[in-house]
Amino acid sequence: MAEDLNVIQGDKTTEYANLIPQIKALVEDEPDLIANLANMTAALKTQFDWLWIGFYLVKDNELVLGPFQGPIACTRIAKGRGVCGTAWAKEDVIIVDNVDEFPGHIACSSASRSEIVLPIYQAGQCIGVLDIDSAELSTFDEVDKQYLLEIVALI
Ligand code: SME
Repeated sequence: MAEDLNVIQGDKTTEYANLIPQIKALVEDEPDLIANLANMTAALKTQFDWLWIGFYLVKDNELVLGPFQGPIACTRIAKGRGVCGTAWAKEDVIIVDNVDEFPGHIACSSASRSEIVLPIYQAGQCIGVLDIDSAELSTFDEVDKQYLLEIVALI
């Protein structure tokens, strides 16, 4: 492995289409979950440069901070709390256009303005979430959801 990521500029469909095969190649021969999650966050950060990209993993019925790229973050989130805990409890993707308008949003960084959270699965079990924060309002939409679902399906 040990190749540089090929980063391109274009609309987000083009950028995801270029990135996803590279993430697949990064993770497909590596069985270690943490190693793969770490490389996924690095690849997403390198291509998109969002404020914060990271995983929270279910441990003892709470979410615990996992591999991430970006500013330091809250380490534990209870089920049903914040955007992450809500996405986990509902096992559904949540897109937040303006974090100030999401009741109970947990502000790990005051620079975060919008967010997307996707549940992640292993062997059919929800094992955590992928959380992405943007410093801009309304960054994430159905296109991001579709491609990020493809990425988390590689876990
Ligand atoms: N904003 C999240 C907390 C995690 S940080 O954004 C990294 C939430 O409301 O669950």
